[in-house]
Amino acid sequence: MTDASIVELEEPEFHEILTKRLRLRTVRVADTELIMPLITRPEVMYWTSQGPVQNVEQGRQWMSARTPGRDCFNFAIEERNDATEKDKKSPPPIVGLAGCFHPPEIGYMIHPDHAGKGYATEALQALIPEIFERFPSANEGGIGFDHIEGWVDSKNGASRRILEKTGFVFCETHIDADNQVRGPCELLIFRIARPGKTLEGLGLVPKANAESDGPPSPPVQ
Ligand SMILES: CC(C)(COP(=O)(O)OP(=O)(O)OC[C@H]1O[C@@H](n2cnc3c(N)ncnc32)[C@H](O)[C@@H]1OP(=O)(O)O)[C@@H](O)C(=O)NCCC(=O)NCCS
Repeated sequence: MTDASIVELEEPEFHEILTKRLRLRTVRVADTELIMPLITRPEVMYWTSQGPVQNVEQGRQWMSARTPGRDCFNFAIEERNDATEKDKKSPPPIVGLAGCFHPPEIGYMIHPDHAGKGYATEALQALIPEIFERFPSANEGGIGFDHIEGWVDSKNGASRRILEKTGFVFCETHIDADNQVRGPCELLIFRIARPGKTLEGLGLVPKANAESDGPPSPPVQ
């Protein structure tokens, strides 16, 4: 029986990005079981808008909302491992997710067992130029854009650090009054401009913030 809440859309084209230690490859609803260890973890999902999924069916729905259509640019992150790459009998574990499913917003998560190794930073460094290449410039019309943005809770120190390390600049603050997981919270919007453009030139740095020293300090955790 098919669940009517699962959106059936054309699968995105397969794309692969290799970094020194990681393989990023197009993620699909069929990867749900491999993604479950990630999206059931409360400490990972705390920073998302919906919280952890409780079972595979919810997992499929979560995935179907993030992998729709040909324009989907969302990736499973795997560790590169020569043995696994040669032996394709069993799929390698997925250690994280990164990509754009609401362009120009970027999202990312790494399983806690693999956190603290620089994986999110390494994945984003490779992904950012690919996103700009994949999506046309705003002046080419259609769905084009000339910047990428990351929305991060002001208390999420690790995520803020990743955006700063990969060249994003704090631009403005947004209050999320009804976050389902964390309650009312302060979101910081970081942006990075397409090569050859500037945030100032694109009118994306509000004047008050352009003149300030940076984002507000996170509270001591
Ligand atoms: C945030 C997350 C993606 C980090 O992944 P990761 O692979 O461990 O990140 P990296 O190792 O590349 O970089 C983390 C950086 O943050 C720093 N950091 C870690 N905890 C921190 C904290 N509480 N405050 C400030 N910086 C912190 C690390 O020291 C590191 O910086 P450094 O290289 O300068 O030392 C991962 O913990 C995660 O999935 N969290 C839950 C989901 C999430 O928050 N997603 C982002 C939503 S906007």
